[in-house]
Amino acid sequence: MSFDLTRVRADFPVLAREVNGQPLAYLDSAASAQKPQAVIDAESHFYEHGYAAVHRGIHTLSAEATTEMEEVRAHAARFLNAASPEEIVFVKGTTEGINLVASSWGGSQLQPGDNIIITEMEHHANIVPWQMVAERTGAEVRFIPLTADGELDLAALPKLMDSRTRMLAVTHVSNVLGTINPVKELVAQAKAAGVATLIDGAQAVMHAKVDVQDLDCDFYLFSGHKIYGPSGIGILYGRKAMLDQMPPWEGGGSMIATVSLTAGTTYAAAPWRFEAGSPNTGGIMGLGAALKWVEALGLDNIAQREQALMRYAMDKLASVPDLVIYGPQHRAGVIAFNLGKHHAYDVGSFLDRYGIAIRTGHHCAMPLMHHYDVPAMCRASFVLYNSEEEVDRLAAGLTRIHMLLGG
Ligand SMILES: Cc1ncc(COP(=O)(O)O)c(C=O)c1O
Repeated sequence: MSFDLTRVRADFPVLAREVNGQPLAYLDSAASAQKPQAVIDAESHFYEHGYAAVHRGIHTLSAEATTEMEEVRAHAARFLNAASPEEIVFVKGTTEGINLVASSWGGSQLQPGDNIIITEMEHHANIVPWQMVAERTGAEVRFIPLTADGELDLAALPKLMDSRTRMLAVTHVSNVLGTINPVKELVAQAKAAGVATLIDGAQAVMHAKVDVQDLDCDFYLFSGHKIYGPSGIGILYGRKAMLDQMPPWEGGGSMIATVSLTAGTTYAAAPWRFEAGSPNTGGIMGLGAALKWVEALGLDNIAQREQALMRYAMDKLASVPDLVIYGPQHRAGVIAFNLGKHHAYDVGSFLDRYGIAIRTGHHCAMPLMHHYDVPAMCRASFVLYNSEEEVDRLAAGLTRIHMLLGG
């Protein structure tokens, strides 16, 4: 199947707009991706034609909304090749999902002296929840360091893992370096040692097919807004045997079986036990549409197109004077860089004047900034709706900034 970039771009209304008198070059999808018309329509259709509270009413609209929501759960299960829809928990996003696991699984399983292994390239979302639960339980957080070219130093893992290691929590793809981690091998090593595993898939699911049964991980997470869906909705995959043994982490409506003021509360089965309160139903409908849209294009097709664009971008940016690119040659989605001695914010502001949107700052990865000894980086991200022409504009813009400001 060929990839029709013009048609793909036409699905995203916002890509037609101008910024500062220039066509928008949106190179910030790793922070949050734009939405195709199908996602916008699905959400507004729900509000126009079928909105009601779910899991609470006997009336037609409520029953329909509940069915649709549970269909999206089943769809998310198929999308990740989970064994059943009961392994899918609706969360606000990756951050909330990791907090759920750290709080519920970690809070009930970790003992003083246990340890959790993460990596030096994690997003804060996969660092801070573990630090918080470690503080609460007396556990320790260890990290796999990086090699000079921005890959995980895999030789360090056997030295870090010991009889008190309980969890290995690793990002699938680095949101800064684009490094694609060998998560299947890491999970296998952890599993052989009886260690639970969590994969942060926030930067992975939109770039290539993910199969949680093949990875054999215990938990996998992603956010709707990075895979062309709405904000405020995400997916936590949890192996059924794990979810079944985990206590609730938030209490309230929808997560109970019975509530008594004198005899206490009994809880619903997983995954509903983890979904207290009224869910983001509009977001769930939009997420369902986003998954459909991505599947219609085909993840293999998307991966092929994006890899070609990424190679083009790496080659093109190599010609920009004084540009330092961080991370390995082979990568997914993002290119982080600094231009000479200029602060990332200055570079980002100049590019914005040319209509080019990139991300600047610490990218919620302060330990990684510390590793490279920089306060900030620029990051351009490339997804299925980006073009070679946008890459050329980025390279030309950076070259112009270099000319204007010097090295
Ligand atoms: C690798 C990674 N993990 C976690 C997150 C947090 O995702 P969210 O803010 O959608 O919860 C992000 C967001 O940038 C990310 O890139």
